[in-house]
Amino acid sequence: MLRTAIRKISSITKGGESYIEKELNYGANNYHPLPVVLCKGEGMYLWDISGKRYYDFLAAYSAVNQGHCHPKIVEAMISQAKILSITSRAFHNNLLGETEELLCKTFGFDKALMMNSGVEAGESAVKIARRWGYEVKGIPANQARIVFCSNNFWGRTIAACASSDDPERYKNFGPFAGLNFQIIPYDNVDALEQALSNKNVAGFIFEPIQGEAGVVVPSTGYYTKVRELCTKYNVLMIADEIQTGIGRAGKLLCLEWENVKPDIVTLAKSLSGGLMPISAVLAKNEAMQVLIPGSHGSTFGGNPMACRVVQASLSVVKDEKLVENSEKMGQIFRNRMSTLIGGQVSEVRGKGLMNAFVIKSGKGAWDLCVKLAQNGLLAKPTHENIIRFTPPLIINEAQLNECMDIIIKAVNELQ
Ligand SMILES: Cc1ncc(COP(=O)(O)O)c(C=O)c1O
Repeated sequence: MLRTAIRKISSITKGGESYIEKELNYGANNYHPLPVVLCKGEGMYLWDISGKRYYDFLAAYSAVNQGHCHPKIVEAMISQAKILSITSRAFHNNLLGETEELLCKTFGFDKALMMNSGVEAGESAVKIARRWGYEVKGIPANQARIVFCSNNFWGRTIAACASSDDPERYKNFGPFAGLNFQIIPYDNVDALEQALSNKNVAGFIFEPIQGEAGVVVPSTGYYTKVRELCTKYNVLMIADEIQTGIGRAGKLLCLEWENVKPDIVTLAKSLSGGLMPISAVLAKNEAMQVLIPGSHGSTFGGNPMACRVVQASLSVVKDEKLVENSEKMGQIFRNRMSTLIGGQVSEVRGKGLMNAFVIKSGKGAWDLCVKLAQNGLLAKPTHENIIRFTPPLIINEAQLNECMDIIIKAVNELQ
């Protein structure tokens, strides 16, 4: 059944059927990809096995903010791979300290903890917040509570599933009892105050813009209010900037839109320019000092190759002024795309180059993504009626105009 369905729509990539079929036969069925089979990437572009070129408007869920296979990042990775890839944290290495310093100084924090995937950064933040809750705030043993927002997404571990209110993510993965996670509505200051007034709350974790939920941008003033309430109730403010950070939302960190500084921030994705999984937790001293030898770690976290890749990735963001470009191109995108509102598109929203369309017809997002791919642009639905548009931040105005022409053409074909 499933294979037949895929075959029917597999014409986007000529000759792609056998590749898709092999994934279906041998891989876990945990994704529902668009039926294109890609084999090459460079800058803004991806190519499929038939040689068809696409604009990438997903950027690997924001892992390639610097563009595909950025030569400076590739060079850093290859040259370091030939010298020393990993030592484990059983020993010091010559790159870790300077990379931690770079992370702290770039983003304005006291201490850095390097991990690998984004969800590991989130798990680490939960551990830090709980321990801080017991050892600094004075929460009674095993009573620490962490507050999350509805429709949050921060990965796929058991803790991430336990803090989700989306049955697709948590169904039949329980039990989750005893974790003491609380879920409150997003962008709701009253609900937040009520939750944080509980003396056992150690941390509040939230995305400055909810990515997987469909690029949900909270009201202006929300970040400021979150900061005020976290300070008032002595709760760690933890910003998950794994998708919004590193320029994606038009600032280096999205919370800079309100000049707000959290106590902890998690970063991943384009920290490596998409070359390898690298994440980091950045925190103020008071929070990070609860980690002592033996309490936390990771075999690959902070390895020399990851360090060189982080250094190169962040220097590309700075040298190529990607934060400024994200803000400027995002404005141009939203201005022109807003003219589509009224037809099949009911809303265009976002900040910087983190944007989305809400499509009127029920399952229109998938159909539009298929049409976009046929016209040479790759994007992915986040829900049945929402498409996220997150191109690499290197996009220039001429490319953006060409992409908007493609999007308008595809939207018109949908009608
Ligand atoms: C906001 C946010 N946090 C955390 C994660 C998890 O990152 P990873 O898939 O690297 O574990 C994601 C992934 O999309 C995310 O969007």
